[in-house]
Amino acid sequence: KWEGLALTPPMGWNSWNTFANHISEKVVRETADAMEKNGMRDAGYVYIVIDDTWSLRQRDANGSLVADPEKFPSGMKALADYVHAKGFKLGIYSCAGKTTCGGYPGSWGHEFQDARLWASWGIDYLKYDWCDHGDANAKDAYARMSAALRAAGRPVVFSLCEWGQNRPWEWAEPIGHLWRTTGDIYDSYDGRKGWESGWKRLLDLQYSLVDSSGAYDGLNKFAGPGHWNDPDMLEVGNDGLSLAESRAHFSFWCLLAAPLMAGNDVRHMSEEIRAIMTDKEVIAINQDPAGKQGFRALAEPAKSIEIWVKELSNQEWAVCALNTDTSARELTIDWGRLWTIQGKHSVRDVWAKKAVGDTSKPYTVRVESHDVAMFRLTPAK
Ligand code: GLA
Repeated sequence: KWEGLALTPPMGWNSWNTFANHISEKVVRETADAMEKNGMRDAGYVYIVIDDTWSLRQRDANGSLVADPEKFPSGMKALADYVHAKGFKLGIYSCAGKTTCGGYPGSWGHEFQDARLWASWGIDYLKYDWCDHGDANAKDAYARMSAALRAAGRPVVFSLCEWGQNRPWEWAEPIGHLWRTTGDIYDSYDGRKGWESGWKRLLDLQYSLVDSSGAYDGLNKFAGPGHWNDPDMLEVGNDGLSLAESRAHFSFWCLLAAPLMAGNDVRHMSEEIRAIMTDKEVIAINQDPAGKQGFRALAEPAKSIEIWVKELSNQEWAVCALNTDTSARELTIDWGRLWTIQGKHSVRDVWAKKAVGDTSKPYTVRVESHDVAMFRLTPAK
C-alpha cells in the first residue's frame, strides 16, 4: 500500500448514506462548495468520495469503466480538478467482484486497467467493496488492487469494504489504510434492518468480538497510524437520529479513532449538526497522533451507563460516558474505577467546554437519553 497516508483516521464525505444512486457531479460540486464555506474542509474533512452507481452499466470497447454522462456530464477528470482547486481530494468506489453491490461493473480482472484510469483522472481514495466475488480469496483480491494502485503511481488511500467477514484486521495492514469491520450502518441508535444496524450495535461489535477460546478480543489492538478499523460512515445529522444520538455517534466514532466520513447532506444541515461535526476539541481526540482506538472500560446496564476510554499522546485520555436509558439521567463517573487511567488527572468536559475538577472525586452530570458526556483528562501537576 502507499505508506505515509492516513497517519490519522481519514476524514471526508461519502455520497452513499444520503444519495445512494442519486449521486451526480452537481451534488459533488455543491458538497465541495458547502464544505469549503461551512468550516468542514478546514476542520479536516478533505476526502470527497463518490460511492456506488457512478459508472455506466457496461465497460467500453477497450474494457474501460465509463462515468455515466448523465450524472457526470463534465467527466471525472474535470470534477477532480474542481475539488482539488478547493483543497479537497477525490475518492471513488469499485468492487473486488465482477459487479458492485448496486449491479455496476466491478474491477475483477480489470484491476490494473481501472487503477490506471483513476490515476489519470486524479483519484486520491478508493473504497473497494466485496459483492459478487464468487469463490475469490479476499486477501488475494484486495492485495491485487493494492498492487494495481501502487503500479498506477498516484498515492491513493485504500479503503477495504469486505464488512469484516474475513477478519481483515489480521491481514490488511500491509494492503490498505482502513477496513470495514461490520455490515452497513443506517440512521438509527440501535435498530436492526437485515444487513443494516444502528450505530450503537456497530460500536458494541468493535469491543465484543470473541476469539476461538472465548476470550475478549477487542478490535482496538489492530488500529494505528496508517491502518484503521472502519465501523462504517457517519449518520450524524440524518433523520433517524435525535440531536443527542448524533452527538453521541460522533463522539464514539472519535473515541474509536474511526474514519470520519460524513454521510449527510452537508449542503442543508442545521447549525447544531454543523457545530458537532466541526468541533475542534472532539476532532482532536479522533486525530490524536498516537492513533489508539478506544474501548469499553465499564458497562453497568442497571445504571444505564457505559464508559469508554481512549488513550491519547502524553498520558492524556479521552472518556465518553453514554446514557443508554430512554430518558435523561444523572450519570456518576467514578474515575477510580477506570483502572487503565493511572495517576491524577484534571478533567475538562469537551462538549460543555469547561473544566470540571480532577479525577480524585467522582463527577456527576445530567445526560440526555442516548447522549454522552465527553471528557479530556490531562495529567495533574
Ligand atoms: C455495500 C457497502 C456500502 C455501499 C453499498 C453500495 O453495501 O457496504 O457502504 O458502498 O455497498 O452499493
